[in-house]
Amino acid sequence: MSPPMAARILVVEDNDSLRRGMALALRERFGDVDEVARGDAAVARLCDAEIEPYAVVLTDLRLPGADGVAVLRAARARDERTSVLLMTAFGSVETAVDAMRSGAFDFVEKPLDLDQLELRVSRALDHRALLDEVNVLRAEREARRAEEEIVGSSRVLRDATHLARRVAPTRSTVLVTGETGTGKELVASLIHRASPRREGPFVKVNCAALPETLLESELFGHERGAFTGADRRRAGRFEEASGGTLLLDEIGDLSAATQAKLLRVLQDQEFHRLGGTSTLRTDARIVAATNADLEQKRAAGLFREDLYFRLNVIHIHLPPLRERPDDLVDLAHHFLRELRDAPGRAASGFTERALERLRGHAWPGNVRELRNTVERAVLLAPGARIRHTDIVLSGPAARAPRPEGLPGLPPDGCSLADVERHLVLEALRRADFVQKDASELLGVSRRKLNYMIRRMGITHRSWRRNRSGEAGDGPAEVSGETP
Ligand SMILES: Nc1ncnc2c1ncn2[C@@H]1O[C@H](COP(=O)(O)OP(=O)(O)OP(=O)(O)O)[C@@H](O)[C@H]1O
Ligand SMILES: [Mg+2]
Repeated sequence: MSPPMAARILVVEDNDSLRRGMALALRERFGDVDEVARGDAAVARLCDAEIEPYAVVLTDLRLPGADGVAVLRAARARDERTSVLLMTAFGSVETAVDAMRSGAFDFVEKPLDLDQLELRVSRALDHRALLDEVNVLRAEREARRAEEEIVGSSRVLRDATHLARRVAPTRSTVLVTGETGTGKELVASLIHRASPRREGPFVKVNCAALPETLLESELFGHERGAFTGADRRRAGRFEEASGGTLLLDEIGDLSAATQAKLLRVLQDQEFHRLGGTSTLRTDARIVAATNADLEQKRAAGLFREDLYFRLNVIHIHLPPLRERPDDLVDLAHHFLRELRDAPGRAASGFTERALERLRGHAWPGNVRELRNTVERAVLLAPGARIRHTDIVLSGPAARAPRPEGLPGLPPDGCSLADVERHLVLEALRRADFVQKDASELLGVSRRKLNYMIRRMGITHRSWRRNRSGEAGDGPAEVSGETP
C-alpha cells in the first residue's frame, strides 16, 4: 500500500557539506527534506514500514555501506512511484546510461549546479504527482468494477455497496452482518478493492474454524515453544495483513480471551505473538463479518460490549435474499449467463413459472444456494428456457413460508395422503383433466403425477381415449374410489 504523501525528499550523500548544502536549498524550495550520509542507512530508512515512502530520492552513486543502485532498488521496491535521481560524476555518460537502465528517473551531474538540481527535482515531483493522479483514477475504476460484480438492483443492496465504497478509503473498522450466503465476503472484498490498500494483501480468517489456542496463534502468530507443537516461530495473520485488509469472519464465535486480545489490537494496533514478549504493531484494516446476531450475543453477555462498539463503528447489513425478490431475479439471470457458457447447456432464460418458483422459496442458503440451484437447473433443462420442473429445491426448502392460500396443519394433525389426494383432484379439475397441465400446477413431472393418479386410483372418462398406460380404465366420472 502506498499512502498519499506530501512532497518528501531524501538526500543520500556522504560528503557532509555538499549534502547539507543540497538539503538546505531543496528544503527552501520544496519543504520537507531528510538527509542520510550512508548507503546502508538510506536502505534501512527506505525499508522502514513506519516511515512513509519518499516522493523523490536523490542519491550519490558511490556511498559507504551500500551503493546508489542499492538505494535506488530499495526505494523502488518500497513504492515504485518514487522517483530516484542518481548523482553521477561529470562526463561519465556510461554510468548515467546504466543509472537510467536500472530504473532511475533522471541523473544529475557533479559538480552540482543548484538551479539544475532544483529543476530536475521539480520535474521528478511533478511526475510523481501525475502518477498519484493516475493512481486515483485507477482506484476509482477498480472500485466501480468491484461494485458492479455485486449483482442486484434492490435499494437495500445498493445502499450497502455505496456505504462500503464510501468507507473504503478510511481505516475504520467495518462490521458486515447477514445470513449465510448473503454476500458478506463479497462486500468485504469490495471494501478492500475500493481502498488505497487494494494492492496490499486481503487476508481472511474464519474465527469459528479453530479452537482458541490455534486461533490465537493464527491471528497473532507464536514464538517457538509457545505451545506443544509450536516448533518454529510463526507470523500471524495480523502481521501478514499489514498494509492490507484483514477479514475476521464469524466474529461472533470468539472466546472471551480472544475477544480481549482483539480489542487491544483494535484500540492500539498492538499485540504479542503467543509466548512472545515484544510488542508488535499492525496497520491492517479490519473488516469483521458474522451471521450471528451480535447485538443479542452482547445483550446475553457472550460478546464484550466494548468490543461490540469498537467493531460496530460502521455497520453494513445484508438482508436475506427472500427479502430482496428483485435481486433474486437479477441474480438468477446473472448466474444463468455465467453458467450456460459450457457446451451442452441450452437454456438462456426462465419461464415465468420457474421464476415464480424461485420467488416462492425461502432461500435459507441465500445467494450461494441460488447459484447452486441455477447450476443444477442449467444442467437439467433440455430447452431454451428453464422450466419450474427443472428447478430442484433442496432440503431446507421445507423452511419456505407457506405459499399463500394453503391451509396450515390442523392442531390435531391430518393425513398427508388425504391432503395429497385432495390437491391432486383439485389440480386435475382445474386443468380439465389434462394431466400435463395439472402436473405443472402441482410442480411435479407428468410421469410422477400419472404414477400418483394410478396409486390413488383416480380415473376420468377422457382418459379412456388415451394410451392405456396413462391411467387405468374406470368409472366415467372422476372417482376417488378404486375402479
Ligand atoms: N449480490 C451478489 N452478486 C453476485 N454474487 C453474489 C452476491 N451475493 C453473493 N454472491 C455470491 O454468493 C456466494 C456467497 O457469498 P459470500 O461468500 O460473500 O457469502 P457470506 O455472506 O460470506 O456467507 P457465509 O456467512 O456463509 O460465509 C459467493 O459465491 C458470492 O460470490
Ligand atoms: Mg463468508
